[in-house]
Amino acid sequence: MFTLGFEGTAHTVGVSVVHEDGEVLSNLFKTYKGTEGIHPRKAANHHASEVVPLIERSIEEADIEKEDIALIAFSQGPGLGPCLRTVATAARSLSLSLDVPLVGVNHCIAHLEIGRLRTDAENPVLLYASGGNTQVIAFKKGRYRVFGETLDIGIGNMLDKFGRENDMSFPAGPLIEEEAKKGARLVDLPYSVKGMDVEFSGIMTAALNKDDPLEDICYSLQETTFAMLTEVTERALAHTRKDEVLLGGGVVQNRRLQDMIQKMTEERGATFHVPEPEFCVDNAAMIAWTGTLMHASGISISVEDSNIRQKFRTDEVEVTWR
Ligand code: ATP
Ligand code: FE2
Repeated sequence: MFTLGFEGTAHTVGVSVVHEDGEVLSNLFKTYKGTEGIHPRKAANHHASEVVPLIERSIEEADIEKEDIALIAFSQGPGLGPCLRTVATAARSLSLSLDVPLVGVNHCIAHLEIGRLRTDAENPVLLYASGGNTQVIAFKKGRYRVFGETLDIGIGNMLDKFGRENDMSFPAGPLIEEEAKKGARLVDLPYSVKGMDVEFSGIMTAALNKDDPLEDICYSLQETTFAMLTEVTERALAHTRKDEVLLGGGVVQNRRLQDMIQKMTEERGATFHVPEPEFCVDNAAMIAWTGTLMHASGISISVEDSNIRQKFRTDEVEVTWR
């Protein structure tokens, strides 16, 4: 059985074909790169013009026929309304025209499930750090629960905003990483951990107001915010008594963040897992795969009930497939 999955919560529109045994046959995407930060309408228009060619190429690359598709999965939320709506419309119409069931997938849970598929992690604590999201998630009592999260903006959005103010192109995360390698002096920035939660806007404002060399500020921005993420991830490990850490989201491609988390994990005697880059960033394979798991456990939705959910919370989903 093949599932066609659609991702479309933010900048990226993706289409993927996944087999029920977990083989990813295609995983294509296009990313909208606006110059002035996230513009939901423009991103949605981008997705509208890219989604049909992506469907065709994805099916072709998977080397299957349209008729072989037995399930359609789409990212139902959380995310930007116009983007979600555009991609959901494509998913619904394909589900109707092929006459196959439809499944709405929570995007954050999909990051965790694709990590379980692509790595040896079985029951991990996930650190999900992307542009719009920063959460520490783990499975407990039938649900994926959020043990810690950002109280304001996602860490990636913070990095991208800081980069924009410093004339870096979008996305700024990788450029800040390069700049930080040249820095070595720790500039004092606020360290904002509140229990299991974190905050980034105050740190960004403080960083923007420093006169130090850019490389030292980038270095300090990474050291401070990554230490915060490492601390809350460690606290979630201790609290849940789990012994695996999984990374997900675009920001976890950062080597310095990976090194810090890995060191903490090994010091605790836990294991460290990070999927290949194409499965860290927003991708449709994670939606197709999570949809496959959900459907195998008896879940599907009618087109009438398939409204997008901009504020779709991770712990709203009853996990019937574990
Ligand atoms: P979401 O909808 O899940 O919030 P997103 O649209 O932000 O996702 P992702 O592909 O998960 O998309 O992540 C993109 C973010 O990752 C950007 O903010 C980018 O700056 C950041 N990023 C990418 N590479 C790096 C890196 N090497 N270091 C730090 N941040 C990075
Ligand atoms: Fe994401």
